[in-house]
Amino acid sequence: MSLFMELDEYGASAEFYDHVPPYGDRQDIAFWTAAALESGGPVLELGCGTGRVLIPTARAGIDIVGLDQSRSMLAICKRKLAEEPAEVQARTTLVEADMRDFQLRRQFALATMPFRPFQHLITIDEQMACLQGIQRHLARGGRLILDLFNPSLPFLVDESRLEEYGDEPEFIMPDGRRVLRRFRTLRRDWLTQVQDVELIYYVTHPDGRQERLVHAFPMRYLFRYEAEHLLARCGFQVEAIYADYDRRPYGATYPGELIFVASRL
Ligand SMILES: C[S@@+](CC[C@H](N)C(=O)[O-])C[C@H]1O[C@@H](n2cnc3c(N)ncnc32)[C@H](O)[C@@H]1O
Repeated sequence: MSLFMELDEYGASAEFYDHVPPYGDRQDIAFWTAAALESGGPVLELGCGTGRVLIPTARAGIDIVGLDQSRSMLAICKRKLAEEPAEVQARTTLVEADMRDFQLRRQFALATMPFRPFQHLITIDEQMACLQGIQRHLARGGRLILDLFNPSLPFLVDESRLEEYGDEPEFIMPDGRRVLRRFRTLRRDWLTQVQDVELIYYVTHPDGRQERLVHAFPMRYLFRYEAEHLLARCGFQVEAIYADYDRRPYGATYPGELIFVASRL
C-alpha cells in the first residue's frame, strides 16, 4: 500500500481524476459556465484542479484564472489546455497557490469553488483567511459561488462507511491499467465536523501487477446556517442558496447540495 498526501495531497491520484466515472458525469458544467457568462468575467476559480470547469468556461468566451495548490492537478490542466485553440488558451491563467493565502493583484467579477475545494479547509481560521482573500479580489458588486455538499445526517452516522465501500464501475486508463475506486471513512469527529476519508484506488496493470493507492485527506462539512454566518463575517451577503446545479432552491431535495451565491458587501 502507498500513502500519498502532505505536499501534493492529490499527487498520486491526479492522473485518475478525469477518468473517474462520477466526475466525468457531474451535471454542473452548464451551471458554472452560465454563472461565468452572467458575470461577464473575469472569473477566479479556486481549486481549479485539472480544469474540468475552467476549460469549458474559457471555451464559453470568459477570461478565467485557475488557482490550485496541487502541482500534479495543474500539470494535467496545462496539458489539456495545450490542446485547446489559441484563443481559449489566451483566456486562461493558471496559478499554483494556496487559497488560504494568495495575492493576484487584480480583481474579478466572480469567484467560484466548484466541487467543494472549500471543504479541504479544516479550521475556522483557514476558512476565514480564504473567504477574506476572495473578498479582497472581488470587484465592487462581484459575486462568490461556494459549492459545498449538504451534510446528510443518516450518512454521518452510518457505521458501514467505516469499512471499505463503493459500487463505482471499474474504469480503464489510456495505457490499459484497470482501476477500481472504493472509499472508507477512517475517523469522524462530530464535534469538529471533520471526517478523515480515504479514496482507495485498486490498480491492475496490463501485465497483471496490482497496486493499492490511497488518497487520504480530512474533509470538513458545514451546515447551512454556519456557512451563512461565516460568509456574513467575511463581508458577503447571501443572495441565493441552491440544492442543485439546476438552481432549485435549498431544501427542494435532501440532502442535495449546498450552493451559495453571495455578493461582496
Ligand atoms: C475535488 S477537486 C475540484 C477540482 C475542480 N474544481 C473540479 O470541479 O473538478 C479539489 C481541488 O482543490 C484543490 N485544493 C485543496 N486545498 C487547496 C488549497 N488550500 N488551496 C488551493 N487549492 C486547494 C485540490 O488540489 C484539488 O485540485
